[in-house]
Amino acid sequence: MNQDILIIIYLVSSVLFIFGIKLLSKVKTARMGNFISSIGMLIAIIATLFDKNIVNFELILIGVIIGSLIGAIFALKVEMTAMPQMVALFNGFGGGASLLVGLGDYLKEAPSELYIALTIFLAILIGGVTFTGSIVAFGKLQGIITEKAVVYPFQHPINLFLLLITIVLGVFMMMDQKLVMEIFSNFGAESFVGNTIVYLIAILSFVIGILVVIPIGGADMPVVISLLNSYSGLAAAMTGFVLGNAVLVITGSLVGASGIILTNIMCKGMNRSLLNVMLGGFGATTASDGQGQAKEIVIKEVGSEEVAMMLDGASNVIIVPGYGMAVAQAQHVVRELMDELEKRGVNVRFAIHPVAGRMPGHMNVLLAEANVPYDKLYEMDQINEDFSNCDVALVIGANDVTNPAARNNPASPIYGMPILNVDKAKTAIVIKRSLKPGYAGIDNELYGYPNCLMYFGDAKNAISKLIQEIKEL
Ligand code: TAP
Repeated sequence: MNQDILIIIYLVSSVLFIFGIKLLSKVKTARMGNFISSIGMLIAIIATLFDKNIVNFELILIGVIIGSLIGAIFALKVEMTAMPQMVALFNGFGGGASLLVGLGDYLKEAPSELYIALTIFLAILIGGVTFTGSIVAFGKLQGIITEKAVVYPFQHPINLFLLLITIVLGVFMMMDQKLVMEIFSNFGAESFVGNTIVYLIAILSFVIGILVVIPIGGADMPVVISLLNSYSGLAAAMTGFVLGNAVLVITGSLVGASGIILTNIMCKGMNRSLLNVMLGGFGATTASDGQGQAKEIVIKEVGSEEVAMMLDGASNVIIVPGYGMAVAQAQHVVRELMDELEKRGVNVRFAIHPVAGRMPGHMNVLLAEANVPYDKLYEMDQINEDFSNCDVALVIGANDVTNPAARNNPASPIYGMPILNVDKAKTAIVIKRSLKPGYAGIDNELYGYPNCLMYFGDAKNAISKLIQEIKEL
C-alpha cells in the first residue's frame, strides 16, 4: 500500500479515537463514542493488515466476524458486577501482546539503534508486568485467588531489587553485544549473552507483575486495574515505536494518558495517594473510628410502612445509591420506586458520588441499565448544596460516601474524602442489611444522628416492600 495513503488512513483513525473519547465524557453520547472509536480501530487494523500483506481479504473478514462474535457474546453475557475483571483480563491480553511483539522483534534481529532497543526493553517490561498483574487482578476479583492482601516480609525491598536487576539486564540488552560478551566471558557466563538476557527480562517482568499486585486488597483492585490499563497503553505505544507504527503510538499514548487520569480521579475521590493504594492497607484497618476504639451508637430503626409514609409526604427526595445497590441488583426496583413517587408529585433526583460502588461510573451504568433518565443523575458537586433543602435523603446500600466522619473526625482513615451531605437532609433514611461497615471498614457516625433512620434489609427486597406499601397508601 502507498505509504502516504496509509498515513492518511492512520490519521483518520486517530481522529476517530480522539473524537470517540471526547463523546465518552457524556453519558448521552458515550455509546456513540464507543462506536466511533471502534470504527477507528477497525479501519486501522484493516489498513495494517493490507499494508503488511499479512492476510487476504477473506481472512480479514473471517477475523472480523469471529472477533465481533466474541465481543458480542462477552458484552451480552458478562454481568455488570463482573465488568472490572473483564477489563482486567483484556488489559492483560494487551500487555501480553506488547511483550510478544517486543520479544519477537528482538529475536528476529537484535536492534542496532539504541532507541529501538530501549523501546523493545520497555515493551517487554511494561507488557510483562501488565500481563501477570492483570491476571492476578482478574483472579482476585473472580475469587480464584484470595481477595485479601497477601503480605510477607521485605515485600517492597524484594520488588525493588527485582526491578533493579531487570533494569541492569535491560542495559546489557541495549549495549553492544560484543562488549557484553567480553564482560560476561570474564565471569565464564557467555551463555547469558544475547537472547537469554531478553528471556530473563521477560520472566522477571512476569514475576514483578505478580508480586506488585498480590499485596493489594481486592477492594482496591479498581484503582489497580485502571493503573494497569494505563500501563497496557504505554506498552502498546512502545510496541508502536518498535514496529514503526504511528497509529499504535497514538492509541497507546491515549490509553496510557486516560488510564492515568482515571487513576488520579479515583484516588482523589477517595482522598488517597496512589502510593497509599499500591502499598495496600486501606480496608484492612480495624472497624473503629480511627481513634482505636469503636463508639457505641444509638440508632432508630423504622419499617417499610413508616418509610412509605414519609416518602409519600415528601416534596423533594434525593436517592443516594452505593455498592449495596449493585450487590442486591436493586436498580430496577429503584426505578420503579422513582416512578411511583413521581406519580405522586414527588421530585426525585439521584446523587452520584465519584467513587460510589467499586468501579468508575458503577452507579451510572446500573441506573442507565434500569432506564433511569440521565437528567435525574447529579454529580456530587452539582447536588451537595441541595441536601439541606430536601425532605428525605434515601441512602440505598451506600455507606462510606455518606460518612460525616470524613468531614468531622481528623483521626478517621477517610478524613478529607469528599462525601455526599446526606446528614444535612431533613431526614436521612438508610437501607442496608446491618450495621456492618463498608469498604473502608469503619463505622458510619451518620447512623447515630438524630435525623437518621435505619431501614434494615436487602436493598431489592426492602424497596419492593416499600413500593407495595406506597401503592397501598
Ligand atoms: P461501601 O462503603 O462499601 O458500603 C456498601 C454498603 O452496602 C455496606 O455497608 C453494606 O452494608 C451494604 N450492602 C451490601 N450488600 C447489600 C445488599 N444486598 N442490600 C443492601 N445493602 C447492602 O459503599 P459506597 O458507599 O458505595 O462506597 C464505595 C467505597 O468503595 C468507598 O470507600 C470507595 O473509596 C471505595 N472504592 C470505590 C472505587 C470506585 S472507582 N467506585 C474503587 C475502589 C474503592 P450491609 O452489609 O450492612 O448490608
